[in-house]
Amino acid sequence: MQNKKIITVTSPLLPNLDEFNELLKDIWDRRWITNNGNYHQMLEKALAEYLKVPYISLFTNGTLPLLTALQALRITGEVITTPYSFVATTHSIWWNGCKPVFVDIEEDTCGIDPDKIEAAITPKTTAIMPVHCYGKPVKMDAIQAIADKYGLKVIYDAAHAFGVEVDGKSVLEAGDMSTLSFHATKVYNTLEGGALIVKDAATKKRIDFLKNFGFANETEVVAPGINSKMDEVRAAYGLLNLKQVDAAIEARHQVAIRYREALRDIPGIRFFDDMPGVRHNYSYFPIFVNEKEYGKSRDQLYFEMRDRGILGRRYFYPLISTFSTYRGLPSASPENLPVATRIANEVICLPMHHALSEEEIEKVIDCIAKD
Ligand SMILES: Cc1ncc(COP(=O)(O)O)c(C=O)c1O
Repeated sequence: MQNKKIITVTSPLLPNLDEFNELLKDIWDRRWITNNGNYHQMLEKALAEYLKVPYISLFTNGTLPLLTALQALRITGEVITTPYSFVATTHSIWWNGCKPVFVDIEEDTCGIDPDKIEAAITPKTTAIMPVHCYGKPVKMDAIQAIADKYGLKVIYDAAHAFGVEVDGKSVLEAGDMSTLSFHATKVYNTLEGGALIVKDAATKKRIDFLKNFGFANETEVVAPGINSKMDEVRAAYGLLNLKQVDAAIEARHQVAIRYREALRDIPGIRFFDDMPGVRHNYSYFPIFVNEKEYGKSRDQLYFEMRDRGILGRRYFYPLISTFSTYRGLPSASPENLPVATRIANEVICLPMHHALSEEEIEKVIDCIAKD
């Protein structure tokens, strides 16, 4: 790969440096750099409006809101979740002293299969933690119906689902709580960052205690909280990035249109089309390689791409359920997870970001389309 121009899977959305410097100067002048400062408050307000959600609490990353959601809802025992995600999803369950129970995914969303959830419920089950994988909405109504029937909480890991809506309604409103990641690789980033979306003011207040060591006021600690407050520098950066995120999503949309047009008739290459009524964010462009029909395995294609300087990513491979911490769980067996196991061996996420050039897009397409 030496001496070649590398095409990376993603590229961070960066605010204008002059504008950022102006805000930095203001932060320096104010001398209030963290703990619910001016920019933190402004970003919470702006994001709540943009995302069409009632209450949002900012975090330092997208992992700690997952941990905190489980704490806040006092989740114990077993939590049903998907093996087809980034490890943070399952780690958050483990860090809460709960047992993850893996349920297989469905092919058309790569999200947890609602038809397989009931069979995994035991008297110890207290919650379901689905993931809107690649920002594709999972079957939220079916999941909620099961949760209601069995008295379970639903916490959505919506790390990929910034701005995703179904019929004009944010997916972040589903379930009891949803989390976001604002990591540098995401559609919208605050360098590192994240958020927890809740439904009422009292819960937001409690979340704000929990992300600040459990402090309810100067002298009272009401829970074993953690430190996960977003600082002023990242909040200011986030405010600037919010101004350009719609344009970035539209640029990604155009990349998706070109990929789909060029790859549609290649035997053995499958990908997702837009779902009716959904506002997608085009955070990823996964393709699924059927070795028999395509004539090459996923890994053959993946390494050929790498040799040509095209860095796709095998998201999500290996499955979380195969990692040492989790593979001994009965629900982790590949026989229990046939769809996830197959998809994890077929997937490559193609380069997808707002700044991909036409030349780069065509190079990616050529690599997949030609021998
Ligand atoms: C599905 C999912 N959940 C959680 C996280 C964790 O977010 P963060 O890296 O911001 O802690 C990520 C990604 O990075 C993710 O992809």
